[in-house]
Amino acid sequence: MKIRKAVFPVAGLGTRVLPATKAMPKEMLTIVDRPLIQYVFDEAREAGIEHFAFVTGRNKTAIEDHFDRMYELDATLAARGKKTEMEILARDQPEAGAVSFTRQQAPLGLGHAVWCARDIVGDEPFAVVLPDELVLNAPGCLAQMIAAANDLPEKSNVLAVQEVPADQTHQYGICGVGKRDGKIFEVDGMVEKPAKGTAPSNYSITGRYILQPEIFKILATQERGAGGEIQLTDAMIGLSKTQKFYGVDFDGERHDCGSKSGFLRANIAFGMARADLRDGLRDDMKRYLGSKG
Ligand code: G1P
Repeated sequence: MKIRKAVFPVAGLGTRVLPATKAMPKEMLTIVDRPLIQYVFDEAREAGIEHFAFVTGRNKTAIEDHFDRMYELDATLAARGKKTEMEILARDQPEAGAVSFTRQQAPLGLGHAVWCARDIVGDEPFAVVLPDELVLNAPGCLAQMIAAANDLPEKSNVLAVQEVPADQTHQYGICGVGKRDGKIFEVDGMVEKPAKGTAPSNYSITGRYILQPEIFKILATQERGAGGEIQLTDAMIGLSKTQKFYGVDFDGERHDCGSKSGFLRANIAFGMARADLRDGLRDDMKRYLGSKG
């Protein structure tokens, strides 16, 4: 199963981190020195993705600008001999023609956002990557999923899953656990944001999916579900009647950067993973904990 394309739903308003996101897309929030969107782009590129489709909305042009070349900046850096900075920009740059942008014209939910990318994806399996969830691991979360998908039958759908405490299951899509083989299990039922105490397991669907293109036909007529939104999970429940879904209990810590505490933790975790910052950051944290803890 070759996965060539990834869809990034980036139209969300980012209300959980206002006012930071009033005039700036939440996907441009910075973890250490790079915007969230760059991390998930890199994760997808490392997993072998060749085309990157962004479903944007109003107020999101900074994302498009971020993946474009800035000639004035390139020229200034070159004139000043700033080689390292030029290399960083070149490394983060997509190949020409490898990105597409389409707009979700109304905030109708994740399922609707994915449906907006149907013509860009066409008739092939594809990945969906939610940019506010970062996973710190090598290999990346999507690469682990694609490796797992290669051993599964054709027309399989794959979800990245991770256990959450029982008192948090109502915040996620949750899947039931069927036959298990190591880190991979057959998904036995799914439910979007189950009422407290009703979740079929503690396995939450995280922001990474590999889906078959038949999902688009279901999304086209999907009714609104939890929160009054067109839910991707509900369309997946529809697709699970004719195709199999598998959960991959991936390696790596997941960071929900769309929440204030998750965003702060991600900055510490990704900062500590950087050889150039680790020692200074550790000293600073010790100092803060010593004086204020
Ligand atoms: C979405 C999905 C949900 C999933 C979650 C992961 O919810 O609908 O199934 O568990 O992402 O972050 P949202 O966070 O957009 O409410």
